[in-house]
Amino acid sequence: MKPVPFVTLWWVLLLVSRLGATRKESPEETSFYYGTFPLGFSWGVGSSALQTEGSWDQDGKGPSIWDAFTHSGKGKVLGDETADVACDGYYKVQEDIILLRELHVNHYRFSLSWPRLLPTGVRGDQVNEKGIKFYSDFIDALLESNITPIVTLHHWDLPQLLQVKYGGWQNVSMTNYFSDYANLCFEAFGDRVKHWVTFSDPRTMAEKGYETGHHAPGLKLHGTGLYQAAHHIIKD
Ligand SMILES: *[C@@H]1O[C@H](CO)[C@@H](O)[C@H](O)[C@H]1NC(C)=O
Repeated sequence: MKPVPFVTLWWVLLLVSRLGATRKESPEETSFYYGTFPLGFSWGVGSSALQTEGSWDQDGKGPSIWDAFTHSGKGKVLGDETADVACDGYYKVQEDIILLRELHVNHYRFSLSWPRLLPTGVRGDQVNEKGIKFYSDFIDALLESNITPIVTLHHWDLPQLLQVKYGGWQNVSMTNYFSDYANLCFEAFGDRVKHWVTFSDPRTMAEKGYETGHHAPGLKLHGTGLYQAAHHIIKD
């Protein structure tokens, strides 16, 4: 199997059309200029939990399929890199907020780690209050800096127990577990977070996870893997 580059720095440029830009612009202003951006656009950057947080087993977090995949030691990731520490974002909230302020962005897209909030993946088993507090404090810190959070619910790091016990996205029951998890997130953060993304790049998640095996959980279920995973993801 070809190793895949894993820890990549991928700042996503996010352009969000500002809602309610009411000022009437002259025809000259509304025409498109190369090298400029129209009035009413906002700037943002983004990240994912696995690629930034680190602390993969700290404060009650459960393992994700990417933790298991990178720990397998079978050369699945270039240089056998792991996300155990990553950017150490779990312990660098204030530093990251300062960096975002220096960039003068007013939106930040990031993802929540499902197994940090629900160590087994199942809401009925256990909710990790330290995980809730981590994201809650982070959201507050963003808002205090006038940065609007855009929150991705799931960016590939499925709780490992849902994978080993039930087959992950091959199993239709993931839709129920995901729905319970999403409701927890809305209840805990929905008073402050108004922009939500369900899945980041679901096609890659289904194809490379269950068909080619290049990504976690590394399954090569040729022919049906991709379609079954995609079907269950779409159901959410
Ligand atoms: C799908 O998940 C359920 C639990 O929600 C489990 O009872 C069932 O055995 C799983 N099916 C497969 C094929 O693993």
